[in-house]
Amino acid sequence: MFQDDAISFLKSLPAYSVDIIITDPAYSGMNQRLKLGRGKIIGKYADTGKDDAKWFEEFHDTEGNYRVFLQQCYRVLRNDRHIYIMFDSYSLLSLAPIARDVFEIKNVLCWDKANIGLGHYFRRRHEFILFASKGKRHLNSKSIPDVWKIKRVVASQYPTQKPTEIFELMLKGSAEKDVA
Ligand SMILES: C[S@@+](CC[C@H](N)C(=O)[O-])C[C@H]1O[C@@H](n2cnc3c(N)ncnc32)[C@H](O)[C@@H]1O
Repeated sequence: MFQDDAISFLKSLPAYSVDIIITDPAYSGMNQRLKLGRGKIIGKYADTGKDDAKWFEEFHDTEGNYRVFLQQCYRVLRNDRHIYIMFDSYSLLSLAPIARDVFEIKNVLCWDKANIGLGHYFRRRHEFILFASKGKRHLNSKSIPDVWKIKRVVASQYPTQKPTEIFELMLKGSAEKDVA
């Protein structure tokens, strides 16, 4: 396990060395773009109050940073492999076109959190996951739907903690079988 700035870490990896990428980047742009209420849905990641919270500068999901991040993901991924990128609705609107420039988008998956959360108009109950490829690759299973109803984590340790079942479904779809 490595704790490092995402872009520096990716730059340190050789090209074509990664079998699958599952990424859930910081959504700081959401706060900057919201014109609702106080425009603050989540706090700063560095504000967790833990001593070990500042391993790196917080990733700002500006269009420039995001393009560099995704280009590095593309560089390190092997050919004919998959990437999953998590988005909330706001970052999907602004950043998904960059993902489409870099990867071949195959699905926009929806994580249905089952119970409503915050929201100034319709209350939020979902997030999105872009499923994309570098080259051609089938899913391991053709029976997984594109809406995943999985309850959010109750009493989470930090604001963005996601249920592990989401990531298990991604691995079910795309991980190499029988690789230790
Ligand atoms: C949306 S959260 C991911 C939550 C994670 N999927 C989970 O369920 O625990 C975004 C994460 O990106 C981390 N982060 C922020 N800036 C970063 C950077 N420059 N490099 C790597 N990670 C960063 C934050 O600390 C935060 O944990």
